[in-house]
Amino acid sequence: MRAVQYDRFGPPEVLRVAEVAEPRPGPGEVLVEVHAASVDAGETAFRAGRMRGLTRAAFPRGVGGDFAGRVAAVGPGVRGRQVGEGVWGVMPHFTFGAIADYVAVPEERLAAAPGNLSLLEAAALPVSGTTALTALTDKARLAPGERLLVRGATGGVGSVAVQFGKALGAHVTALAGARNLDWIRELGADTALDYRTTRPQDLGRFDVVVDVVGTDLGAYQARLDRRGRMVALAFDPDRMVLSMLGTGLRAALRPRRIKLFSNNPSAERLAELTRSAEKGDVRPVIHAVLPMDGIAEAHRGLEAGGVRGKYVVDMGRA
Ligand SMILES: NC(=O)c1ccc[n+]([C@@H]2O[C@H](COP(=O)([O-])OP(=O)(O)OC[C@H]3O[C@@H](n4cnc5c(N)ncnc54)[C@H](OP(=O)(O)O)[C@@H]3O)[C@@H](O)[C@H]2O)c1
Repeated sequence: MRAVQYDRFGPPEVLRVAEVAEPRPGPGEVLVEVHAASVDAGETAFRAGRMRGLTRAAFPRGVGGDFAGRVAAVGPGVRGRQVGEGVWGVMPHFTFGAIADYVAVPEERLAAAPGNLSLLEAAALPVSGTTALTALTDKARLAPGERLLVRGATGGVGSVAVQFGKALGAHVTALAGARNLDWIRELGADTALDYRTTRPQDLGRFDVVVDVVGTDLGAYQARLDRRGRMVALAFDPDRMVLSMLGTGLRAALRPRRIKLFSNNPSAERLAELTRSAEKGDVRPVIHAVLPMDGIAEAHRGLEAGGVRGKYVVDMGRA
């Protein structure tokens, strides 16, 4: 089967389509014929080698954290999935490799795909959707009528956080690039501001801040109301280790105020996302659909910025 891999750290061009053995589902695992998978913006830092020393995975490395497809086979002990069923899911925590013709994953990394979306559309949502949902519900406990600031609002996670924020009844302020302000309002933001010209001190007060940027966290933390909560989802890409230590310390010192987590959704969280998509609370936002050998173009696009939602890789099965 085909799988996108890389053999050394470097620019997007290190990514290549390789021929590899098809995985076999072990006990409790499901083999999924992948129809589409999203491109993870966070992985550009792994590929470039900015996370080296922090991760142990050996080369060749796979890419892609989520997928939508059909069950091709089930391993011993799998009870809840049928061959042929449409599913979506996430790779096991801290592993990648969804941009491939097949993946074998534990049953609990899957849920039924939403009935109202094609598998191609659905592929944009599992990681972004579960991250945004966990951030706003479990971590921030966003309540109707609260003021939510989404920093990094037009990217993969932000564009879903804006939609969930609206669905949960919040007043949503989006910080985004100038050319995407009208677009993010159409997606549901009540207020949209250009992040390049809006200083943190120009902003009002917020009950919840969701940050997917990772820089200047102190200045945005200062915009929180007395009972405000900030969910910090990203680290400063230029000072990764320092930023991890700084944000970790902030969260440890003020655990009610600063929330930090690494998305590791349960099957129930994925099923909740399925219900939200079917209800129309959230819809996939797809910047562009590319074939597997377009992966370098997607990484270049993510590094250049201005992306609306997600790049999706189509395995060409339709
Ligand atoms: N903790 C977790 O479990 C978790 C889960 C998923 C993702 N993440 C992390 O979250 C980050 C974002 O992921 P993503 O998929 O949403 O990435 P993305 O699609 O690249 O989105 C990032 C967004 O941030 C915006 N941005 C960049 N600099 C900004 C600034 N100074 N102020 C305001 N906005 C700014 C970008 O806008 P422009 O492109 O217009 O500049 C873009 O819309 C990554 O670091 C990823 O690793 C963490």
